[in-house]
Amino acid sequence: MNREHQKKIAAEKATEEIQDGMILGLGTGSTAYYALLKIGQMVKNGLDIIGIPTSDGTEKIAVEQGIPLSSLSVYSKIDLTIDGADEVDAHLNLIKGGGAALVREKIIANASQRILIVVDESKVSHIIGTSFALPVEIVKFGWEATQREVNKICKRSDVRGGIVNPLITDNGNYILDCHFDGIPKPEFVEQQLNNIPGVVENGIFVKLADQVIIGTSTGIRYMERSQ
Ligand code: A5P
Repeated sequence: MNREHQKKIAAEKATEEIQDGMILGLGTGSTAYYALLKIGQMVKNGLDIIGIPTSDGTEKIAVEQGIPLSSLSVYSKIDLTIDGADEVDAHLNLIKGGGAALVREKIIANASQRILIVVDESKVSHIIGTSFALPVEIVKFGWEATQREVNKICKRSDVRGGIVNPLITDNGNYILDCHFDGIPKPEFVEQQLNNIPGVVENGIFVKLADQVIIGTSTGIRYMERSQ
């Protein structure tokens, strides 16, 4: 089973948890995309839900799929969020933000009663931060000073897109992709980074995911949060 198929089966499995009347957090990325397609089909077949998107890109796809949308200005609680991740460990610590949507994803995650993370088997790691660079969103003003502070915590960081033509997030900021030899204490590093003036948010998600649904070459596998 190839990687694309693994993403699809994981995302579609997660949509089985959706019930009529739910407020749904709609994730970003190539795996969450399959969930959006499925939710679109379900809505066409009469499912009554409202989605809250985690990025402008997801909003556009959701509109194309006919998914009714709203925002956190109207709803303070989200019943269920289905989103992807870049790296996942057995404690359900995550790295997110490969699609540059980490700020909105974390706000949506924080407002969600239940979070299902959908991944293919390549995303599972013993310790997060070993195979994927941690995205950190920073404001443009004084970004070089912010990067110097961030570099005291990681091995090195790269401005996503390069200095000449940096990627601009949906929130008008830059992303630093920060390299580590693993992040054994993710909660600590998450807080350390967020204490730096100029850092908006980083892609470490701790104690947020309730279940990880993994598409593998032999079918679906689950990881649950123990507490
Ligand atoms: C978006 O910012 C990310 O957090 C994505 O959820 C993550 O990068 C996973 O994306 P893929 O499913 O495309 O790998």
